[in-house]
Order: sequence, then structure tokens, then C-alpha cells
Amino acid sequence: MYRPDRYRYERLPYDRLGYSGLLVPPLSLGLWHNFGGAASFDKCREMVLGSFDLGITHFDLANNYGPPPGSAETMLGKILKSDLKPYRNELLIATKAGYDMWPGPYGNFGSRKYMLSSLDDSLSRLGLDYVDIFYHHRPDPQTPIEETMGALDSAVRSGKAMYVGLSNYNATQLKAARAILKEMKTPFVANQIRYNMFDRSAENELVQTAEVLGIGLFVYSPLAQGLLTDRYAQGIPADSRAGGNSVFLNKEDISRDVMQKVRALSRLAAQRGQSLAQLALAYVLRHSSVSSVIIGASNLQQIQDCYRVVENMLLSARELEEIDLILQ
Ligand SMILES: NC(=O)c1ccc[n+]([C@@H]2O[C@H](COP(=O)([O-])OP(=O)(O)OC[C@H]3O[C@@H](n4cnc5c(N)ncnc54)[C@H](OP(=O)(O)O)[C@@H]3O)[C@@H](O)[C@H]2O)c1
Repeated sequence: MYRPDRYRYERLPYDRLGYSGLLVPPLSLGLWHNFGGAASFDKCREMVLGSFDLGITHFDLANNYGPPPGSAETMLGKILKSDLKPYRNELLIATKAGYDMWPGPYGNFGSRKYMLSSLDDSLSRLGLDYVDIFYHHRPDPQTPIEETMGALDSAVRSGKAMYVGLSNYNATQLKAARAILKEMKTPFVANQIRYNMFDRSAENELVQTAEVLGIGLFVYSPLAQGLLTDRYAQGIPADSRAGGNSVFLNKEDISRDVMQKVRALSRLAAQRGQSLAQLALAYVLRHSSVSSVIIGASNLQQIQDCYRVVENMLLSARELEEIDLILQ
């Protein structure tokens, strides 16, 4: 029988998620890749339980994670059933709706019909009565924003979600959504955005907006899907994301220019006594509005490596300048 590490809450600094009562670990585990229908249950179980042992309480999902869509939720549902159900109150489980989930006009975007039906399906796959955070996964240009926010509010009022979040909203969309949610007194706590050394667009507005609005930031793809690690140092491994048939990262992304930057960043990380992954995470976590980075992983060792970012999260002005120069 699984017994979690008894010291699991003694090592990570938990940070308040924006202006909310929720404390979150600096590192969260995302189940977008490597938890789908073809994944080994034992390996997924090892990653999830190994994370929990490290004090990682937050697991990020979406209705469509797989492939096939839904299978990552089913996988976590199995792990909850076999091992983690007794610890449900210690876990933050998040899911989302917004991308394509089922055929026909009601299977994506932001209608009330899609959002609430999708949440019911997610709960059934997870074998849970509620999720901790229910997100709208992407803005919907067609559906009135009041309807989508109303659906998020209903999710909370019906007891099927504790809090709500938004993802991939720009600053203007975020402010509009936030005004509606505030009026309804919906517990809106998180904005989930992409941010990493190779994609710094969030620095222009979103990082500051989150601070001003008191909304916590969860950063996804902080390792640029593995580019900001030593994964591709010796070529493209067949079992890596770029080496497989992911449509999100492919062999052309491992360009000479990218690898030149990766090698220079790796040298800087080594001078700090860190892996490149740890440096990349420290870079994102340096903003006070970033509450947690959501990493992906294909094995437990990667999670353990990332976890060690907490040993050295401070970056000097000189190191930040050097990073700017490398990334230019
Ligand atoms: N809201 C949204 O729209 C959205 C979009 C994308 C992602 N997300 C969330 O964010 C999560 C993370 O996204 P992501 O997977 O792109 O994140 P990421 O952390 O940037 O990349 C993860 C990949 O990096 C490699 N890796 C991780 N740690 C490593 C280490 N220590 N050493 C070497 N390689 C390492 C692994 O690649 P290999 O698999 O090749 O080993 C792993 O799969 C997702 O699971 C999801 O929950 C949300």
C-alpha cells in the first residue's frame, strides 16, 4: 500500500496564489503529454506518487489531454483510485474545457452547454465529485463572455469546482472576464499562461496585470517543451517529444540557432551549479506574480531534477543580463 513521504511538506516553499487562500507549490505537474492511452500505468503512477512525495500537490489536466482526448484524466482517475483517494484533501486537481472535445457544434470553445457538460465528463473520468480549479482553456471570440463566465460561476455554485481559472486570455480579455467574475463573486484565482526563456511575450503585460489584479499565475511549458533542458544536447532521442510524433514540437524546432543558445544557457547553469532545466525554471519563478511553474515530464528523474530548482532560485542582475545577451 502506498504511504506518502512523511516529510513531504517540509521542503518546498508554498506560495499564495494571487489574492486567494490557496497555497501552491512552486512546481506543479502537468499531464498534457505522456499520460494518455498508450502510456504505462506503472510509469504514470510512479511520476504522480513520486511528485506527491516531493510535496507537489498540484496536478494540471484538461478535458482533451491524451491522446485520445480524455485519457489523461482517466489515467489520473485510476491513480487516485489505486493510491491517492485517501489524500484527496491534500491535492489540487485542475481541469479545463475550451479545445475540441467531441464532434458537432457543442464540443468546444465557451458555451454554457459545452463547459458544464465537459466538466461532468471530466469528473466522471477522474472519479471525483469536484475539481479544485476549473478553467476556461482559451478565449471564445463568438460566445458572449458573460455566458462563459456564468458557466464557470455555475460550476462553483453546483459544488463541482472549488475555484475557477482562465487560460490563454490576453490582458484585455482577462480584465473584462475578471470584472464579470468579480461582480458574481466567483472565486477566480488563476491565470494560466505560456512563458519561458524562448517565449517572453508574457513579460510585456500579463505578468504585471496579474500582479495588479491579484490573480495568481501558473506558467505552462516553462522548459519550452524540453528545449530548455539537456534533453537534446546529444541529438534528438527517439523517446523525446521532438523525436516522436507530437504536433507541438518537432525535429525542425531543434535548430542550430536554438541549440547554440541552449548550449550557452547550459554553461551558465553549470556555473551556478544547476541543470539547464533548473535555471529555466528559476528564470520564470523570479516574478512574484508567478506562483508555480507547470512542468511536463516523461519520467520521475526529470521531475526530481526540476524540483531541485528550489535550491537556487535567485538570479543576479549580471546573470539576467547574460541571459538577455544569449537570447538576443
Ligand atoms: N493552458 C494551456 O493551454 C496549456 C498548454 C500547454 C501545456 N499546459 C500545461 O503545462 C504542462 C507542461 O507543459 P509542457 O509539457 O509543454 O512543459 P515543459 O515543462 O516545458 O516541457 C516538458 C518536457 O520537457 C522535458 N523535461 C522535463 N524535465 C526535464 C529535465 N529535468 N531534464 C530533461 N528534460 C526534461 C520532457 O520532455 P520529454 O517528454 O521529451 O522527455 C518533458 O515532457 C502540461 O502538461 C499542461 O498541464 C497548458
